[in-house]
Amino acid sequence: MKTVVVGDIEMAYRDAGAGVPMLLVHGFPLDHTMWDPVVERLGGACRLIIPDLRGYGRTSLGEVDDAQGVGMQRYADDLAGLLDAIGVAEPVVLVGFSMGGYIGWRFLERHAERVRSLGLCDTRAGADTDDARATRLKMAKHVQQWGAEHVALAMQPKLFAPGSIESGHEAVARTSAVISATDPRAIAAAQRGMAARPDVTDRLPAIDLPAALIVGQHDQLSTPAEMRSMAEAMPRGELTIVPDAGHMAPVENPGPVADALAALIARGPR
Ligand code: MLT
Repeated sequence: MKTVVVGDIEMAYRDAGAGVPMLLVHGFPLDHTMWDPVVERLGGACRLIIPDLRGYGRTSLGEVDDAQGVGMQRYADDLAGLLDAIGVAEPVVLVGFSMGGYIGWRFLERHAERVRSLGLCDTRAGADTDDARATRLKMAKHVQQWGAEHVALAMQPKLFAPGSIESGHEAVARTSAVISATDPRAIAAAQRGMAARPDVTDRLPAIDLPAALIVGQHDQLSTPAEMRSMAEAMPRGELTIVPDAGHMAPVENPGPVADALAALIARGPR
């Protein structure tokens, strides 16, 4: 891991390989290690830039207003700042997993010229329902007293396919350990930010970029049906359904995820 100062934070990131830059953005409440199994399989296909977002992994939380949280646009601007700081001027293949995808929408809006193509992994274009928003705000309010371990336990059945949990897939314990080690303030900040994110469904037809939409067959949080309609709405969207995986497709069954991303690189730029 390397670190670089980006605005008010010290940002940790992995930078490996050479060629077309691919920026891999992790989900909530995780860190860059969720991409390890995919990275192993991508080999030397491109240059991989894999940060820990503000408050996650080894990146500092910086100056955060706890009542407001961190909006998706702020994470997006951190990523643009990272690319500036490490001298990546060429457009990137932007890949976002779940919350990383929500950040991706904002990145596209604010830094469109920096995106060559788009990988959307187990993510959504819609906003939260009122119930989902209330659940997020409840967690944001109570996570300090509950502790991050509680979040890990509560999220497990939503993140993984039942088969992954029953078979004791090693990624289940590894992911729980990452969540349990996460700063509760960072968890609260992201929950408030996600609760405030807008619906971008209407914008999908205007995203005329090569796009890979990848979803676990058993994903309950961003379902295959929802991702299929996103792929159909995007002029160049191509859907991959990953078998034997839930929401955490990149760790539950990384082979098809890596194959879809390798194909996205091969599809070239806009
Ligand atoms: C994620 O995996 O990033 C989260 O489950 C996203 C969410 O809570 O909507």
